[in-house]
Amino acid sequence: MNTKEQPKEKLIIFDTTLRDGEQSPGASMTKDEKIRIAKALEKMRVDVIEAGFAISSQGDFESVKAIANTVTESRICSLSRAISVDIERAAEALKGANAGRIHTFIATSPIHMKHKLQMAPEQVLAQAVGAVKIARDLIDDVEFSLEDASRSEFEFMCRITEAVIDAGARTINFPDTVGYSDPIEYGAMIKRLMNTVPNADKAIFSVHCHNDLGLAVANSLAAVQNGARQVECTINGLGERAGNASLEELVMAIRTRRDIFPVETRIDPVHIVPTSRLVSSITGFPVQPNKAIVGANAFAHESGIHQDGILKFRETYEIMKAEDVGWSTNKLSLGKLSGRAAFGARLEELGISFDSKEEFNQAFVRFKELADKKREIFDEDLQALVSDVQLGTGADDLTVIDLEVLSKSGQLPHAKIGIRYQDKDHRAEANGDGAVDAIFNAIEILVNSETNLQLYSVNAVTQGTDSQGEVTVRLEKDGRIINGQGADTDILLASAKAYLNALTLMRNPGRLHPQLGGV
Ligand code: KIV
Ligand code: ZN
Repeated sequence: MNTKEQPKEKLIIFDTTLRDGEQSPGASMTKDEKIRIAKALEKMRVDVIEAGFAISSQGDFESVKAIANTVTESRICSLSRAISVDIERAAEALKGANAGRIHTFIATSPIHMKHKLQMAPEQVLAQAVGAVKIARDLIDDVEFSLEDASRSEFEFMCRITEAVIDAGARTINFPDTVGYSDPIEYGAMIKRLMNTVPNADKAIFSVHCHNDLGLAVANSLAAVQNGARQVECTINGLGERAGNASLEELVMAIRTRRDIFPVETRIDPVHIVPTSRLVSSITGFPVQPNKAIVGANAFAHESGIHQDGILKFRETYEIMKAEDVGWSTNKLSLGKLSGRAAFGARLEELGISFDSKEEFNQAFVRFKELADKKREIFDEDLQALVSDVQLGTGADDLTVIDLEVLSKSGQLPHAKIGIRYQDKDHRAEANGDGAVDAIFNAIEILVNSETNLQLYSVNAVTQGTDSQGEVTVRLEKDGRIINGQGADTDILLASAKAYLNALTLMRNPGRLHPQLGGV
């Protein structure tokens, strides 16, 4: 190992969990959930948080705005296509930000320009420059992305990059939009661009890699070795299709192999595991056990030889310390005797706030109910409980008022359910192939949603048989996919909540997708 440290350059960590991450089918998040994730990212010292795509829906606009008004230590960014309405909407959402950024983009590959945009390269160039100028009139910090850069023609990329830097873009991003590149090719592309574009020194070169071939992190690291000084990434590698480069893998690779990387990040890694859990619990996307850094087995040693080695000298089989990335921060938070003040203080430490006193009171009542059923309440329990309260409070939310399930061997399970919707109570009962099926059938008698159930999964929030079960239900209707969540120590009740949550979300209008033509 090379022990002689060279002075390090700064690598900007740009997190897009709330934007590209939310483009994972079914990973939509509410405003409150996005604020909680943004606060966790801020605590982790992420440099730039892409909080959303303001024009895509009223909900996204409100989320970007709320995050811009709440987070002070990270720069807040909104995505916008290279058109004035998008850019103006992004600027409006970012008005309250301590430090804001508009990220505007247009596709530059022949395949996208011809088939998606139906524009000539010269038109694309003119539109890119125009968009950056409009954005710069509204905000100081403008990032420009050449969508599908890895499949774009080199000469054209150079021209457009030079022109948008002249127009005032401070960061130029070269996405591997379809996850097509490989580390040697992608690293060489970044190096060649930096050496060819005459005003390259006036901007930060950034990368944004998708994981279609499982190379997103490798490609990003190759780009860093070749001069990129911003990486775009997401918690748990969430993102469109196979996802984006995972923040935790990038950050820990750079930290662990500081002998080979010429850069350092500001990230405080101790917040990595709690943030990963928060994102997983909010989106309902479980983390695979063998996932690097944040998977349950990432620091578990099964083989006797390995265990023996670890006991003799940890570094025989471990290149990182589990506690450095937050594995031991599974804090025992509160118990049955904890009062309102202790509950409120712990929520504040976790970055959780409520819109109203009534919501806080509801959460406190739920906490007391949970503490009656479960002796030890951990931070994960509080996160799950708060998600549950925040999801079920609107009059237009479908909520469970009571549930009775009869399940006896040799007989078909039977469920009776009461649901509240717009202040009215509705009841139904049904049989099913299993207890959960009976519950969903009873709900369908009332709502007749015409949705298809695509996924049903249960995860234990903490350890032990008294753990809350966190249920994810994925529904599909007319191509739209929605994930619903529910948590309870009773997994049948959690299942009913998750199904109703998915149905509630399904009623909200969909968001505009950033990669739509529309320019
Ligand atoms: O993958 C991509 O190209 C993007 C851009 C909008 C930056 O997400
Ligand atoms: Zn992307």
